[in-house]
Amino acid sequence: MSAPVDAPEAGFSAALRAATTDDHRTAERDGFLVGLMRGSLPIDAYVDFARQLWFVYDTLENAARARRSDPAVGAFVDAALERRPAIEADLAVLDGPDWRDALVARPATTAYVERLRWVASAWSGNLVAHHYTRYLGDLSGGVHIGRALARAYGLDETSGLSFYRFDRIDDPVAYKEHYRARLDTMPWTDTERDHVTEEVRRAYGLNTALLAELAAAWVPAGDVDAERPGERDQPHRG
Ligand code: HEM
Repeated sequence: MSAPVDAPEAGFSAALRAATTDDHRTAERDGFLVGLMRGSLPIDAYVDFARQLWFVYDTLENAARARRSDPAVGAFVDAALERRPAIEADLAVLDGPDWRDALVARPATTAYVERLRWVASAWSGNLVAHHYTRYLGDLSGGVHIGRALARAYGLDETSGLSFYRFDRIDDPVAYKEHYRARLDTMPWTDTERDHVTEEVRRAYGLNTALLAELAAAWVPAGDVDAERPGERDQPHRG
């Protein structure tokens, strides 16, 4: 487990990041994402991924909106982050006007959504944990993934890649710093912080399981050369 060299190791956000470094590395080396970023998978694999993410964000964003009057949730909820409208725009371009008819959740997606439904009415820190895992990831690695997909498939935000573009966030790096500062000032006890960390690890696990299912469907057998150095510790900041 290694901590980023360029971040001060203080506060809950730094501890959370350090505690989940290995989980992140596993997610980041996933064969499906690597295959997509290399452009070695058909575009339909990306469409499948977008469909699965639709279920995830639909549930996450409904839960976040419903709980926004809770101070812990309200501190993080922000319409500028919401990805469901972007996914819908992407699917309308890539899949045509009847894109909703093709929405089918894979078993791993269903398991993820079931956890999010549980989270929706559980202690607020659980919802923050899932919010953090998806949106800070989208604002970080998502930027790199988006660039790679643009190169690999010749897409841009008008042709199916708006998921990776946050039109209403001018400076993702500053946004993430502000988000981490909010994590640091949440009035959570050590035990509650442990619960949040545990739920973030669960969220990583659900994402990794979904990516593994997509890999089983789309990555040709034998193409297991997904290992590569993690980018997370490099000096760029999203
Ligand atoms: C190819 C895939 C991925 C790449 C290249 C990647 C890359 C990165 C990078 C470079 C950062 C650090 C940004 C910074 O220093 O501010 C980061 C952070 C993060 N990533 Fe990823 N990532 C990938 C996949 C994922 C996945 C699948 C998830 C989970 C769904 C995820 C969740 C996160 C989170 C939550 C953070 C923020 C950690 C923190 O600073 O507290 N990433 N990612």
